[in-house]
Amino acid sequence: MARLTDKTAVITGAAQGIGATFARAFAAEGANVVSADILDSADVVSEIRAAGGNAIGVKTDITDQNSVSAMLAQTEAEFGPVEILLNNAAIFANLQLKPLTELSELEWDTMMQVNVKGLWLVTKTVLVSMRKVGRGKVINISSGTVHKGPPGQLHYVASKGAVIAMSRSMARELAGDNICVNTISPGLTMSEGVLANPGWEPFRKSLLTAKMIQRDMQPHDLVGTALFLATEDSDFVTGQSINVDGGVQLT
Ligand SMILES: NC(=O)c1ccc[n+]([C@@H]2O[C@H](COP(=O)([O-])OP(=O)(O)OC[C@H]3O[C@@H](n4cnc5c(N)ncnc54)[C@H](O)[C@@H]3O)[C@@H](O)[C@H]2O)c1
Repeated sequence: MARLTDKTAVITGAAQGIGATFARAFAAEGANVVSADILDSADVVSEIRAAGGNAIGVKTDITDQNSVSAMLAQTEAEFGPVEILLNNAAIFANLQLKPLTELSELEWDTMMQVNVKGLWLVTKTVLVSMRKVGRGKVINISSGTVHKGPPGQLHYVASKGAVIAMSRSMARELAGDNICVNTISPGLTMSEGVLANPGWEPFRKSLLTAKMIQRDMQPHDLVGTALFLATEDSDFVTGQSINVDGGVQLT
């Protein structure tokens, strides 16, 4: 029996990469999937529908309240209230790595707008919908960089540290609403965007030997944990952060 039948799941940043993998997997488990991405989600939506699943794409800028509210209105009109929110959208794969002294204020502010403010805006908006159902699962995507502290991406690491901190506070604040909030921290994952950016190659190589499981991590390696956190199997798990990274050693 599919584990997410008739549940509506909003997945941000699902037009491509890890988000698209989540979207396909959640739809295969019976969820009504909404891809909320600033990019066009037509490809992933067609794939899901061709496989017999339910999905829509709603062009959304997660930093803009009007855009996020319009996404929720369209979602509820199509599928009813939302029970699962997977906050996956972020500035990541296209990052140009550089020393902290070379980061501009604009780069810093944009990172915080999307990765921190955007996650909060979507969560606070979708919450209204979850309260109608009387339960909910929020899954926030952070990053293993928070624990490892790699150079060249200070603004990104700071933003993903905030995601872990916010998840814990959200979990405490929303437990009374029967809403669980947890974080997944992936290691470097071979999404299309990462594969297209040669800047990640040195990290990929050094991480291969730093991992207990010495192979590249693929987007599908994250699916089992996300599904666990989306289903009733995790109903007593909240405020937690799970590293999915093949056992990276934190040296
Ligand atoms: N790939 C990795 O190695 C890795 C490792 C750790 C964490 N992560 C995290 O996993 C998630 C997905 O990573 P990915 O590799 O697929 O990255 P990606 O950059 O390919 O995908 C991010 C998605 O977010 C969307 N997005 C960006 N700004 C947006 C906005 N303002 N509104 C709506 N959507 C917006 C993009 O269009 C894109 O589809 C991100 O949160 C990333 O930080 C990735």
